[in-house]
Amino acid sequence: MNARDLTHVSATADIEVPVRESDTSMIWSDARLLGFTPMDDVHEEFYEVVLRLVTCTDTNALAAIDAFEKHAVSHFEQEDEWMRTTNFPPRDCHIKEHAAVLKSVREVRAAVEAGKINAEVVHDFGMHLFGWFPGHADYLDSALAAWMTKQTMGGKPVVLRRTK
Ligand SMILES: [Fe+2]
Ligand SMILES: [Fe+2]
Repeated sequence: MNARDLTHVSATADIEVPVRESDTSMIWSDARLLGFTPMDDVHEEFYEVVLRLVTCTDTNALAAIDAFEKHAVSHFEQEDEWMRTTNFPPRDCHIKEHAAVLKSVREVRAAVEAGKINAEVVHDFGMHLFGWFPGHADYLDSALAAWMTKQTMGGKPVVLRRTK
């Protein structure tokens, strides 16, 4: 499998995962805060584990993808659970997008374990995730963050961002 096959990896998932090529920042910043702290903390961790993917070597690629898979399972399960337990109305497409990403992660992991792809392909996969995240967070996670804040606090989230 080469870097080009990554498109295939994503395409095998049930739905298209949109990638915003213009925003593939690898660094977490307060601009990404959505105002629901339990979610924001997990999103900051997302940036740390994906950075491990884009900086891994052939020797530690499997460990990096294992760490990302562990993160993704808990990240997505937590959000799915919030959506289900509070009957969040537009939950279906959000849950499907999580499942599509997880499916791709597992395919990449299996290919690394089988020695079919090297660190370079894992780097590309990490960049793909950095490109995917902003759109997912802006359109799906942000709505859930607002909903959860309303559920727990009775109001819209107030985001306090540090200024430089
Ligand atoms: Fe999220
Ligand atoms: Fe999400």
